[in-house]
Amino acid sequence: MDLRIFKDKQEVAEQFSAYFVEQTKGKEAFHVALSGGSTPKIVFDVLAEKFAGQVDWSKVHFYWGDERCVPPTDDESNYKMTVEHLFSKIEVPQENINRILGEKDPNPEAMRYANLLEIDLDRVEEVPQFDLVILGMGDDGHTASIFPHEIELWDSEDHCVVATHPESGQKRVSLNGKVINTSKEVAFLVTGASKAEKVEAVIEKTEGFEQYPASLVQPTSGNLVWFLDEEAASKLNQNPS
Ligand code: 6PG
Repeated sequence: MDLRIFKDKQEVAEQFSAYFVEQTKGKEAFHVALSGGSTPKIVFDVLAEKFAGQVDWSKVHFYWGDERCVPPTDDESNYKMTVEHLFSKIEVPQENINRILGEKDPNPEAMRYANLLEIDLDRVEEVPQFDLVILGMGDDGHTASIFPHEIELWDSEDHCVVATHPESGQKRVSLNGKVINTSKEVAFLVTGASKAEKVEAVIEKTEGFEQYPASLVQPTSGNLVWFLDEEAASKLNQNPS
């Protein structure tokens, strides 16, 4: 397992940005699924402000691992967050941005987005293959929008599924486990002390780890990288610090 532990959120953002630049190098087309929530904000800020000149954005095609079923103008929107912290600061062709239409009816939208992935991306045994899927993890061990109370959605045959946030009841559209694990590379971006318990459970497979969807992230390629800050890694036995 490729565990990369850095001092703080700023250093994680810089190291992840350098990694992202490396990943895009020499690619004629690079298809990436972004994570949402709050952790990516500082990463996108640093990527845009310090590394933008090192990426040919005309070759990078953006998708999302999940989206909240809200309009793109809503503060809960992962698309809105990404516009504010990344797209508004870089020269990326609009046609390279493939957002999940959070304002639409979730079920037909999940089917539409799955169809888009099946057309746009190469496929491995009929499963769309990203070059990189970026994932976060919730304090409850969820990833993308696959939550512990709906962990069976991970094995859904539908490449995009409709999920429900356990507390708010908010609907989400999310990639399924097959699409995530078919990606050439998967990178977790996880920071903050509130994640430490689940990071330990998922990485060190402590008791009950199977109930956390993040533990099901095992890309067939074997290419899984964890970007952690020391707070998130604080309970790991293998944490050098
Ligand atoms: C989302 C995400 C979700 C996120 C985790 C962590 O839309 O919420 O994609 O999987 O990565 O909830 O969220 P934070 O980064 O806000 O802790």
